[in-house]
Amino acid sequence: MRIGDCNNPADFRKLARKRLPAPLFHYIDGGADDEVTLRRNTSAFDKVRLIPDALADLSNLDLSVNVLGQDLDWPVFCSPTAMSRLFHHHGENAVCRAAHRHGTMYSLSTISTTSIEEIGAQTPGPKCFQLYIHKDRAMSWDFIDRCKEANFSAICLTVDTLVAGNRERDLHSGMTTPPRFTLSSMLSFFTHPHWSVNYLTSKKFELANVSATIEEGTRKLISVIDYINSQFDRSITWKDAEQAIQRWGGPFAIKGVMSIDDARRAVDIGASAIMISNHGGRQLDGATAPFDQLGPIVDAVGDRIEVILDGGVRRGTHVLKALAMGARACMIGRGYLYALAAGGEPAVDRALSKLRDEIERDMILMGCNSVKRLNRSRLHFD
Ligand code: FNR
Ligand code: LAC
Repeated sequence: MRIGDCNNPADFRKLARKRLPAPLFHYIDGGADDEVTLRRNTSAFDKVRLIPDALADLSNLDLSVNVLGQDLDWPVFCSPTAMSRLFHHHGENAVCRAAHRHGTMYSLSTISTTSIEEIGAQTPGPKCFQLYIHKDRAMSWDFIDRCKEANFSAICLTVDTLVAGNRERDLHSGMTTPPRFTLSSMLSFFTHPHWSVNYLTSKKFELANVSATIEEGTRKLISVIDYINSQFDRSITWKDAEQAIQRWGGPFAIKGVMSIDDARRAVDIGASAIMISNHGGRQLDGATAPFDQLGPIVDAVGDRIEVILDGGVRRGTHVLKALAMGARACMIGRGYLYALAAGGEPAVDRALSKLRDEIERDMILMGCNSVKRLNRSRLHFD
């Protein structure tokens, strides 16, 4: 199988599995505990069905949306994901450039392997920075100031990861950062010589935004789980979120909202958007799916805040269902990560263009020429 044979995330996933040493594949692919929520995130879309119209003049399609103050050509953008350079030496820069080429927004994780400054200079396109508040508060607030300098467009604060989820695949595989070349992991690295040579001969691993301040962001060996548990600040509250919003002074989202009460709190503190998300099933297993909560949250706060859906999106029809339910846009994480791992920048290009083509085709099949016209009358509920 080659990149050109990949038509959807499941295809890219198969190729990523072949190309990546096992610990890295499972870090992307896995979820918490029994992965019930991970599976549910995607299967939740199956419980509603689409109702198409016919003969509606589909010669012009408008897929554009405005999210977090940014005009996007189509209603999907890239979720923030940690340490892209581990999956492919093209790293975060590749995804950022591909997103820009495809008329959409890139989100950079706090714990990325490319710095805020380098990503800021990569494209003139919209960029969102994902904030993890660390125990080192000075460093955390400094991220916000660095984003201003680097011309980021928006910030999202992730609120569902005060402790790492129980990702047992990572425990089994011995996933560490930087990757550990131990006797047990050696076999996996030896059998993926292409990845290993690229990894060892390109820029050295670091958590680029934090490495100047804390030792755990450098080559010091630590598991992702231990990094989260030792560095992230568990004492944060809505007051801290409000302070971050004020310090930034621009479009700001709370990422990881799942309850109606929290959606209301996000409105109260002046957030511009909420990202309904359970971190792609990587945190609280047994949590409900973002799509399950979308309708109730839109009903409660949809007229006062932008509602973005994050998690489980694999198909164009998933995006149409979310928009019809009231989401402003959707985000994808694994939807581009499998492609990055499978083949770097050209593969991310292909993944984005395939998803956009699907949305276009699905809109025509739905007899709907503008995503702004999708509403619940187009959905059938059991
Ligand atoms: C993530 N996610 C994530 N979220 C975040 O706020 N900061 C981060 O650093 C990361 N890192 C990360 C790494 C990997 C490998 C994955 C798969 C995910 C969660 C991400 O932003 C998003 O919420 C989910 O990926 C959405 O689910 P799907 O699209 O992967 O199903
Ligand atoms: C993850 C963290 C780093 O999901 O956000 O792996």
